[in-house]
Amino acid sequence: MKIGFFDSGIGGLTVLGHALNILPFAEYIYYADIEHLPYGEKTKNEVKQYVQNGMDYMAKIKVDAVVIACNTATSVAIGKLRKNYSFPIVGMEPAVKPAVTYCKEQGKKVLVLATSLTLREEKFHQLVQRLDATEMVDTMALGGLVKFAEQFKFDTAEVQEYLQKELAALTIQDYGAVVLGCTHFPLFNKILQQFFTKETVFFDGSAGTITHLADILKQKGIVPSVDDKIKFVITDGELPPSDVDYKKILQTYLHTI
Ligand code: DGL
Repeated sequence: MKIGFFDSGIGGLTVLGHALNILPFAEYIYYADIEHLPYGEKTKNEVKQYVQNGMDYMAKIKVDAVVIACNTATSVAIGKLRKNYSFPIVGMEPAVKPAVTYCKEQGKKVLVLATSLTLREEKFHQLVQRLDATEMVDTMALGGLVKFAEQFKFDTAEVQEYLQKELAALTIQDYGAVVLGCTHFPLFNKILQQFFTKETVFFDGSAGTITHLADILKQKGIVPSVDDKIKFVITDGELPPSDVDYKKILQTYLHTI
């Protein structure tokens, strides 16, 4: 089985990492639209077009399913996308639901970290309203982390300074949970945790997305292939010079391949 992964850059690797654990025997095509990142700072229509280009590529190479491993792309584009393609498309959603459930018990607040486009989108506001959690959910756009990640800077003094500045206005003890609502952010797990209390629980949507993918593949009778391999492509389908770095990220930060 051939599964396509789509993100603006390296963030989707955090989701691919989960897929490699749960569905190891598949052929993965990881498409990073590096020519157009960061999506979080683009318009909704621009992102919709980029995602459509990516899905056209996936259709051309005949995938069995696609994971849009990007919260921003999912929030603006997934609505109409599914009916244009014959393969199943699984998206990402900030893991607000489990975080709210957890914090209601604790009497604490939830902090959602994502791109500004994700946080502005109707889809996000509806999600929070459905959970009746408007009062207990705070948000913060941390687009700078996307840029650092793309420069392969994760645990540096620069990142530390950036987070210090951005998080300075928050009363950290108020938060029982932090939702990593951008797939680039789990790459900063370690450094982010230093800014919160030891009791703060971090949530991200990767596991839920991959469980959903596995269910869909099973329902459709798509069986694993014997060969497991990963191919990385970038905008326009060329192999990236950073192919090796992508593998290194998976090994170092996500402890997979
Ligand atoms: N990784 C993406 C997300 O999950 C988007 C990052 C970006 O390109 O701004 O939102």
